[in-house]
Amino acid sequence: MSPHATDPDASTSHTDYPSYTSPISQRLPTQGPGHSPHRFREFELNGRVFVVTGGAQGLGLAFVEALVEAGGIVYCLDRQKEPTASFSETQGRVAAEFGGTLHYRQVDVQDAKLLDEVIASIAEEHSRLDGLIANAGIQYTKPALEYPADEVSRVRIIKTMEFEIALILLSDDERQLQRCLLLGRELYVHLTVFTMVSANVIEGAKQMIKYKTPGNMVLIGSMSGFNANKGLLSSVYNASKAAVIQLGRNLSMEWARAVDGKPIRVNVLCPGNIITPMVENDFKNDPSLRKTWEDANMLGRISEPKEYRGAILFLLSDASSFMTAGSLVIDGGYTAW
Ligand SMILES: NC(=O)c1ccc[n+]([C@@H]2O[C@H](COP(=O)([O-])OP(=O)(O)OC[C@H]3O[C@@H](n4cnc5c(N)ncnc54)[C@H](O)[C@@H]3O)[C@@H](O)[C@H]2O)c1
Repeated sequence: MSPHATDPDASTSHTDYPSYTSPISQRLPTQGPGHSPHRFREFELNGRVFVVTGGAQGLGLAFVEALVEAGGIVYCLDRQKEPTASFSETQGRVAAEFGGTLHYRQVDVQDAKLLDEVIASIAEEHSRLDGLIANAGIQYTKPALEYPADEVSRVRIIKTMEFEIALILLSDDERQLQRCLLLGRELYVHLTVFTMVSANVIEGAKQMIKYKTPGNMVLIGSMSGFNANKGLLSSVYNASKAAVIQLGRNLSMEWARAVDGKPIRVNVLCPGNIITPMVENDFKNDPSLRKTWEDANMLGRISEPKEYRGAILFLLSDASSFMTAGSLVIDGGYTAW
């Protein structure tokens, strides 16, 4: 019987949980047949199945490496036709060394139908889905006051979406009106990105429920969901990251007992500045940004993707079994100043 569903002592019976395959309940036997030299077995992911979107490069690639090294069966979904050279190198190296496996599927996560099919087929093949990282993301930078004024046709998109953005069209000033339209359009783009995050986690949750796998999800937010990243003119990107943080809270609540009384946990990882192809592009556009960002956090430098490996393993394994609806900020102290 589920400890949460019909057990009258449900409020006091949480201590047997999580129990389905958790290494926590069997950890560190010092002798006998169960003895294993492994330490911290709650971080092991042996035989568990994961989907990582946007994992062909950058931060996502560091995530897939970490999951495979911990024994996971990992599927990277990315819109790039071919995986990058470093992805292929990772594929050969980590699979042989650590026992996990790494697979690639070309998917644009904006294609909701294809995304659903691919996630469903992965879950069907293994009769389970244990975790998902919603990492795919794009960044759009532009000063809010400089949206080009020749894009009125885009209003249609906004109208079609029936967003309340329409309210801002009430401005009398024509220039202001056009600016609002374009800001609205960018908001539309980023809400689409936000919707992409929802789409893949929702399909993931459906599969976890179908195959009765209490699993967990990590949405990739950003410290930019909490602050204005110095020097980066990206009001709408930041707003979309704030929305992702809130989405995590709500989904956590909805799915806290979704798998026969057991949870699908949802947490949001909020990194600070990281050297990835996305940020290298920012530096190309504005070389002064590097120094600005190095000076903006307490550690005086920009982070590397590998510095998030431990965090992702923590969030996706039983090591974080009592954590849901959380936002883990790793930013060198940037947002604390
Ligand atoms: N780099 C940073 O400083 C930083 C900081 C905080 C948060 N983030 C977030 O981390 C995530 C990864 O960023 P990154 O810096 O590694 O970026 P990146 O551009 O280097 O990599 C993003 C990956 O996502 C893929 N992708 C983009 N749109 C996609 C789509 N529609 N469908 C499928 N794949 C798609 C790209 O092909 C690419 O492989 C993003 O969500 C980003 O917002 C980055």
